[in-house]
Amino acid sequence: MRALVYHGPNDIGVEERPDPEPGPGEVLLRITATGICGSDLHGYTGENKRRHPGQIMGHETVGRIVAVGPDVPGLEPGRVATVNPVIGCGACAQCAAGTEQLCPRRKVIGVDREIASAFAELMLAPARNVVVLPQDLPEEFGALVEPLAVGYHAARSGRVGPDDAVLVIGGGPIGQACALAARRLGAEKVVVSEPAKARRGLVERLGFATIDPAAGDLADRVREVLGGPATAVLDAVGTSRTVGDGLRASSLGARLVLVGMGSRELTLAAFDVSTFERSIIGTFTYPSQDFRETAEWVASRPAGLEHLVDDRVGLDDAPGAFARLASGDLDASKVMVFPQGAPR
Ligand SMILES: NC(=O)c1ccc[n+]([C@@H]2O[C@H](COP(=O)([O-])OP(=O)(O)OC[C@H]3O[C@@H](n4cnc5c(N)ncnc54)[C@H](O)[C@@H]3O)[C@@H](O)[C@H]2O)c1
Ligand SMILES: [Zn+2]
Ligand SMILES: [Zn+2]
Repeated sequence: MRALVYHGPNDIGVEERPDPEPGPGEVLLRITATGICGSDLHGYTGENKRRHPGQIMGHETVGRIVAVGPDVPGLEPGRVATVNPVIGCGACAQCAAGTEQLCPRRKVIGVDREIASAFAELMLAPARNVVVLPQDLPEEFGALVEPLAVGYHAARSGRVGPDDAVLVIGGGPIGQACALAARRLGAEKVVVSEPAKARRGLVERLGFATIDPAAGDLADRVREVLGGPATAVLDAVGTSRTVGDGLRASSLGARLVLVGMGSRELTLAAFDVSTFERSIIGTFTYPSQDFRETAEWVASRPAGLEHLVDDRVGLDDAPGAFARLASGDLDASKVMVFPQGAPR
């Protein structure tokens, strides 16, 4: 098979690798599309040291089942499926509870170096991580389940509901997912803060109000747009500035969900947390149930999904797409790699 292999900082290329074969409990997928995620880009530039030379990345994916190993009932070749990349040990209390993201021995497809992942023509996945989708769904939507599940888990962890006024900070794919999830959980008042014009345009096409945080005091603008301070903040950037903005723009008792991982360390105004009884909630990926519910939601074809993919490339053009995205081109939001060739 052909695969996109990480060689080192800012260096990624297509290589030939042996076709994998499914062992017990495994499923072999022919990959249709895999999204390039912010974390892939940070790995590509060498900024986070979590990617290693020789590694095949890719965790936002959809494909067709080609073959299954022994002991895999119910997954038929030919079916379209997405893959939950969070692999728990399967033996601990967190895994038993379906909160594999809290498993101390969790591995993540696309992140852990020993797992050959989804920027390739073929990929193996544990059968319990494979989620079958309707055959008539536009296949690339399946690769959106993963980032959308990140937003869904963030919004659920912030207990977002119909009575909330929600501020989403950041209009990238994760911010978009947070806003869509807040709407899906019943929130009608949702505003997204995003400095890049092209991204504000995309968020507005999804039907959300936007604020340019560079154009004035964010807290004032949020009060104008939401009719009061935010009761829940979903920070999909994760810097001292955005956490500070989120605290100032939110009500007493507000929940601020830190899903963005823009900085390793934060400085924050402690009294803005304590004296206002605000809580800061960290989230990482999702429990398997949140992933499945997001897959079901995507399968129902909610309005807006058609706006989320803005560029499609084959494997040979993928290195160029990585370079362009890493250079900070924010006109593209979600670029998808099609290992069997990009659709025309
Ligand atoms: N916790 C998790 O499970 C998880 C999963 C995936 C991604 N992430 C993290 O979430 C973050 C967002 O991911 P993404 O793919 O959307 O990234 P992205 O870089 O595509 O988008 C971030 C957006 O934030 C905007 N932004 C920058 N400064 C801002 C500010 N001061 N106020 C408002 N917006 C601002 C940028 O213009 C950009 O559009 C990243 O840090 C990523 O590592 C976390
Ligand atoms: Zn991702
Ligand atoms: Zn476990």
